[in-house]
Amino acid sequence: MAVGTAPGKVILLGEHAVVYGQPAIAVPVAQVQATAIVEDAPAGTGITVFAADLGRRFRLSEGQARSRAAAALARTVRNTLERLGRTADLDLEITVSSTIPIGSGLGSGAAVATAVVRALVQHLGGYLTSREVSDLVYQTELLHHGTPSGIDNTVIAFGKPVYFIKDRCDEVFWPGRPFWLAIGDTGIPSSTREVVADVRKGWEQDRASYDAHFAAIGALVARAREALIRGDLHELGQLMVANQEELRAIGVSSEALDRLIAAAMDAGALGAKLSGSGRGGNMIALVDEATRDAVAAALQRAGARSVIVTRVS
Ligand code: PMV
Repeated sequence: MAVGTAPGKVILLGEHAVVYGQPAIAVPVAQVQATAIVEDAPAGTGITVFAADLGRRFRLSEGQARSRAAAALARTVRNTLERLGRTADLDLEITVSSTIPIGSGLGSGAAVATAVVRALVQHLGGYLTSREVSDLVYQTELLHHGTPSGIDNTVIAFGKPVYFIKDRCDEVFWPGRPFWLAIGDTGIPSSTREVVADVRKGWEQDRASYDAHFAAIGALVARAREALIRGDLHELGQLMVANQEELRAIGVSSEALDRLIAAAMDAGALGAKLSGSGRGGNMIALVDEATRDAVAAALQRAGARSVIVTRVS
């Protein structure tokens, strides 16, 4: 039997613009995680996947037809076996569970896939580097998101803060000073695929203005990388606020997100913004040890469905 796990993640700055070639920064969130368990099954039973949270079980051969989530799991298993030079002619039971809310920008799809890859690799006695795991999970992300930038699979497979540029750079880095994030969930599910497609429609109608917003976001991310390395959390907070303005301008914020962001800032956060695709899902607030509890409480009062406080180092 083998167990694979993977953390959730949040995008610190740069979402959406990252799809258009700008840099973005993402960090893992260890408080939530996906787990996969791979066990040998009785001979002749084939490969079965059990999605424990949903109470659903399916044979690998049926995955494609079931649902997008089942198809994603099936694709992950097949690609991993292929990568390890194994055929699907094995008898395995794969149990998947996750504490990462779905459709909230915390990377649940990429984390589940990463956990499955890790458990399979371990069970079958292979070895893959973090980059190889990330590349495999990207293939699954294509199914979830249509045109994913690749940032989710990268930060989750590496399990460290990453500075990321699509097809060009995935640099793991260490912040000069640890910091805390309060992550507030609007409770409104959001489809990354749909929001990314809406942004693309807007871009197709007015390329000049969208490209200007994306470039402005890219410049903020580059400054944020420097601020993070220096440990300048005040500047990082200001850059997050400026990034939120750009995200609002491209139409991906919402009343619920704006309300939580305002509550966090009023309670003393150094910066706050939506995180991930937007419209619903989560927002993040940069806090320190002195403001952490007050900001978390303010988010709850402002209607956050849940609040996670995570330390990034
Ligand atoms: O909602 P999430 O966390 O899956 O993030 C989507 C991030 C986008 O930049 C909007 C899309 C992408 O593929 O990077």
